[in-house]
Amino acid sequence: MNTREDYIAVFDSGVGGISVLRELVRLMPGERFLYFGDSANAPYGSRTTEEVRALTLRAAEKLMQQGLKALVIACNTATAAAIRQLREAYPRLIVVGIEPALKMAADRYPGCRVGIMATPVTLREEKLSRQLARFPGMQVSLIPAPGLVELVEAGASREALEALLRPLLAPFAGQLDALVLGCTHYPFAGPVIGSLLPGTVLLDGGEGTARETLRRLREAELLEEGTGTVLLQNSLPDPEILNRCKALLENSLL
Ligand code: DGL
Repeated sequence: MNTREDYIAVFDSGVGGISVLRELVRLMPGERFLYFGDSANAPYGSRTTEEVRALTLRAAEKLMQQGLKALVIACNTATAAAIRQLREAYPRLIVVGIEPALKMAADRYPGCRVGIMATPVTLREEKLSRQLARFPGMQVSLIPAPGLVELVEAGASREALEALLRPLLAPFAGQLDALVLGCTHYPFAGPVIGSLLPGTVLLDGGEGTARETLRRLREAELLEEGTGTVLLQNSLPDPEILNRCKALLENSLL
């Protein structure tokens, strides 16, 4: 049975899921959130699907021991690799995954040129091909961004982000109506990405994931109107990583 003490857990391979947590906190300020980033094992995106699945299931098991009413997988990579297995493992828990915001792109820009920037796992998994098949009119460019997750994890400067992204995005300047940020780390590089692609609208799935979580909790009558807390945890035994999470959350809630 669920009690007031149950957390909404939010999981990512590292600090990226904070971009989803901020939307969750905005929408449900009275809830108790438990954020876990697996920075010791990040990046997930260049691992095998089996490795990502095993790491995600292991993290979920640890989170479950702390008492959960919902688990939000704030990582496109982990969702692509493990959402089915998570739902099978915890059939009574509300499990919400994030996926690239393709539907938003298709609804707003039907028949337009859309880029999807995501990790190698997300780009090659069947989940994305199935999603893409639903929007045949869309002209899609798949854009891997090697090294970007590492820079965001390390709290890199705007200059460092620009040095990596400029050559990567140059071929797409003026070519895309929308760019879907299909990795939860990428919104933190959003201002740099936006400056390199003027005229392209950036979309991400954070808000949609938060809305879906709210809908599921409401449906299950599990919403709380408490004082609201956020507990931050990380697999890296380094206080710096928790400070970075805190700073990313606080800055993005301003
Ligand atoms: N933040 C994760 C995502 O949304 C992946 C980052 C990683 O490669 O670890 O895909």
